[in-house]
Amino acid sequence: MFVPLQEKEAKAEIAAKWDDSSESYDSHHGHGIKTKKEHEAWIEALSAVLPPIGSKVLDVGCGTGEMSCVLAEMGYIVTGVDLSERMLQKARSKANVADLKVRFEPGDAEKLSFEDESFDAVLNRHVFWTLLRPRSALQEWKRVLKNEGRLIVIDGLWMDVSLESKLRRLIGDLSILILERRNPREGWYSKETESALPHPRGMDAQKARTYLEEAGFKGIDLTYLDNIRNIQRKHMPFSQKVTHNAAYYMICGQK
Ligand SMILES: C[S@@+](CC[C@H](N)C(=O)[O-])C[C@H]1O[C@@H](n2cnc3c(N)ncnc32)[C@H](O)[C@@H]1O
Repeated sequence: MFVPLQEKEAKAEIAAKWDDSSESYDSHHGHGIKTKKEHEAWIEALSAVLPPIGSKVLDVGCGTGEMSCVLAEMGYIVTGVDLSERMLQKARSKANVADLKVRFEPGDAEKLSFEDESFDAVLNRHVFWTLLRPRSALQEWKRVLKNEGRLIVIDGLWMDVSLESKLRRLIGDLSILILERRNPREGWYSKETESALPHPRGMDAQKARTYLEEAGFKGIDLTYLDNIRNIQRKHMPFSQKVTHNAAYYMICGQK
């Protein structure tokens, strides 16, 4: 019998899953920044939407701190929070090696421990799809933003249902089955946790816009990150390259 998970159990599974994948996370193209070209493309995209250098930025669901470190390099005062302690450990050691000052701490995107109006910008990359309560998270991000602070959400519709995407996934799945000899259809989370997530396949940009509007963000601005997606694709293994065609975007709003 299917029993829906309680929020606490689902979050424990989410944290454990990311703990387990913390070692290999950065090795995947699209997670770790692999080339100078991609690094420069991220700086260009972020510079266009961030407040002035030296402002305080919160990276929510920071994972191994890939974005946090880019932000710190750019000269921002960065705090990263995540549910997974082992992702945070990776983030801390990455920042140490690069001699970057970033504060990484455990935290829940849907219930932050910061005072109201603590940050000039709140950013997150690839996090929305794994939130149980995206609306609560948006309210929290708005609460910790200063007036006129910027929210920056980087995301994609990872598994859209167009015929082309389905065909691409089929080819990718077959190559995983044959070349990597593993089950390509194994879900990331358990069925119970997946069914508790409103967007387990990612989120299209229009839906993200609606969320930001409903949460009261103003001046919403959408940029597609095709250039970054294409740079990432160049170096991917075949099974990933063939499926990596999702609409990839950055959507921003102001408090
Ligand atoms: C796909 S990873 C993205 C990591 C990082 N933002 C990046 O761009 O590489 C998703 C991250 O969100 C974190 N996460 C999931 N739910 C969370 C929550 N409620 N609060 C904080 N972090 C969360 C996971 O632990 C994981 O590190």
